[in-house]
Amino acid sequence: MPIYQQLGTIPPKRHTQFRKTDGGLYYEELFGTIGFEGMSSLLYHTWRPTQVKSLGEPYDVSPRIAVTNNMTMRKLIGFDVKPATDYLESRTPLLVNRDLILGLAAPSGGPMSYFYKNADADELLFIHRGSGRLRTPFGQVPFTYGDYVLIPRGTIYQIEFDGADNRLLYLESHSPIYTPKRYRNHFGQLTEHSPYCERDYILPRNLETRDEHGDFIVKIKKQSHIHPVTYETHPFDVIGWDGYNYPWAFSIHNFEPITGRIHQPPPVHQTFQTDAFVVCSFCPRLYDYHPLAIPAPYNHSNIDSDEVLYYVDGDFMSRNDIAQGHITLHPGGIPHGPHPGAYERSIGKKETQELAVMVDTFRPLMLTEAAMAIDDGRYFGSWGET
Ligand SMILES: [Fe+2]
Repeated sequence: MPIYQQLGTIPPKRHTQFRKTDGGLYYEELFGTIGFEGMSSLLYHTWRPTQVKSLGEPYDVSPRIAVTNNMTMRKLIGFDVKPATDYLESRTPLLVNRDLILGLAAPSGGPMSYFYKNADADELLFIHRGSGRLRTPFGQVPFTYGDYVLIPRGTIYQIEFDGADNRLLYLESHSPIYTPKRYRNHFGQLTEHSPYCERDYILPRNLETRDEHGDFIVKIKKQSHIHPVTYETHPFDVIGWDGYNYPWAFSIHNFEPITGRIHQPPPVHQTFQTDAFVVCSFCPRLYDYHPLAIPAPYNHSNIDSDEVLYYVDGDFMSRNDIAQGHITLHPGGIPHGPHPGAYERSIGKKETQELAVMVDTFRPLMLTEAAMAIDDGRYFGSWGET
């Protein structure tokens, strides 16, 4: 996230005295990555952010794995994941490996009574239905349908929804989530050939400075456990901050598709990168314009990755019997391609309205018990002639 931001009041020089009106000091915190070498921000707290009052009993939230070695094409009926009032309980892990957790959530609740921090993983939320705001010490990040919300590991947050009908795709990534390196120049700026640019970022705003003492429970996720920690002061007591490491959002509707005379390979849809997987956005776009073009994708063998597609909206040109909220999994090692008739059907088509999010993982994915509960069980045979 190489874009410098500043919100609230900060001292003119870092690591120097910064005083309140009563003469007391604000308390500086470095919030950084990759030791002291990566992106970081400096936050100025009203109170010391280290005042632990009590520790709750940790509890295990490890995904329950049902299928460890998967070589089966799968279709999961994502909207069958049940709504839950509590945000964390609503999060249902479906596909996992040692690099990430991919899941769906249908949170229906109001304001959270606790704060949450993922100490293990960057989080990426994709908002399929609903709107609201992420509340953090950096300010609020508003979100609505089609937004990716990126939350760097260690960010304390609450999430508020405007209504009860919310659907999220979420990722927990043990490898930091960045913009694709090939779209960044030597200075970190997104280049002219990037499908989106810094102007599209939804940045934190409405800084909350809550000067409050009490019992503030932060549920900290670490090593697949939730550790409830009660703090003396409100986590959102920041008077100002600056730096490069903070939560932000980006709308899939602002992704500008790259098209060509003939079929463009999936990397043109890439939106984010990590060391362990990529995230791509399939957006409404004009089709290939060579006179003999076949807009549907060719069959391909994804030897190096498992491919996950989450279907968001529109008509899914290469697939039959696909609806919103479905997830398909095409495991590495066997070829996949358009459904029967889709290849031929695509010829002469000028555009598509499809909207989908793809996650390609470099290591195989395992399926959880929750995933198998919404597996249609027949998808693997859907390329047959009959
Ligand atoms: Fe594919």
